[in-house]
Amino acid sequence: MTEPASPPLRLLIDTDPGVDDAIALMMALRHPRARVEALTVVAGNVGMEHTVRNARYVLELCDAGDVPVYAGAGGALLVEHRRAVDAHGDDGLGNLGLRPRSPDATPGHAVDALIARITAAPGQLTLVTLGPLTNIALALRREPAIGGMLRRVVMMGGAANAPGNVTPAAEFNVWADPEAARIVLRAGLPLTMVGIEIARANLLPAEKIAAIGALGTERARVAARLLTYSLRVAVRRGMPGASCPDGTAMAVALDPATVTDAGQYHVDVETHGELTTGETVVDRRGVHGRLATTTVVHAIHRPRFVAMIEDAVRA
Ligand code: BDR
Ligand code: CA
Repeated sequence: MTEPASPPLRLLIDTDPGVDDAIALMMALRHPRARVEALTVVAGNVGMEHTVRNARYVLELCDAGDVPVYAGAGGALLVEHRRAVDAHGDDGLGNLGLRPRSPDATPGHAVDALIARITAAPGQLTLVTLGPLTNIALALRREPAIGGMLRRVVMMGGAANAPGNVTPAAEFNVWADPEAARIVLRAGLPLTMVGIEIARANLLPAEKIAAIGALGTERARVAARLLTYSLRVAVRRGMPGASCPDGTAMAVALDPATVTDAGQYHVDVETHGELTTGETVVDRRGVHGRLATTTVVHAIHRPRFVAMIEDAVRA
């Protein structure tokens, strides 16, 4: 008897590409079980003029030019737009001259697209967030019911009782729009948080990047050039390998068995700290007595994560 085929993993991905977003998108677009139904794009690492174009570039690179790309919020809810060009280059993809043939967004706003697609497929869609949470917060504010319609949400964001990467306390995606992150974390979503400490524990050293580049495809070459850019940034910051936070979150979304240690906690965001704005506060001991709705990933299976990147760029 033949095994029944497992149903596709239907994904919506909210993203601000970004070097590591690009790697994560390749992982999803090339994964045999995943079906990427749409990208919603937000300003983050770079402005919307670049994030849309970069999303388009990765789709074309993965022969997925038909996936819609909806442009969303061009800045955070309350704070000014905070970029990360030091980590991603002025164009968001390491200033490598990577340009799509068709640079334009699909007609329609990302927030409308999120609401329409989630409402049309209750219980079926997994949402992966790889950027500041502005689009998701706006969608939840406009249509709170969508929170209960998502199968799963995997968020790259925050630092679970670990140092931040943009301030001692805060990780970029949460710091870039703390109010939006708070709305998302308070919405009672079936949320898994993959913080910056997971990328830090799974850096990609030069030898691994070279092995990825040697896989021989155009995607492999581009992935290696992007990761080499990240490696240079990492070395300047005293780290021995390229950091790929969005890739770690995507690995968790694509295969929950990638997670080797996790806990369920109440998590909230500091929005007006004197020193700690954007910190994700994980109530690990349950001292608040509030509902523990967020799964916080503490560790992943490194070989599975790396294999997903390699599989994404193979012929
Ligand atoms: C996160 O911030 C961005 O710079 C990366 O793309 C990733 O989503 C890491 O803090
Ligand atoms: Ca990102």
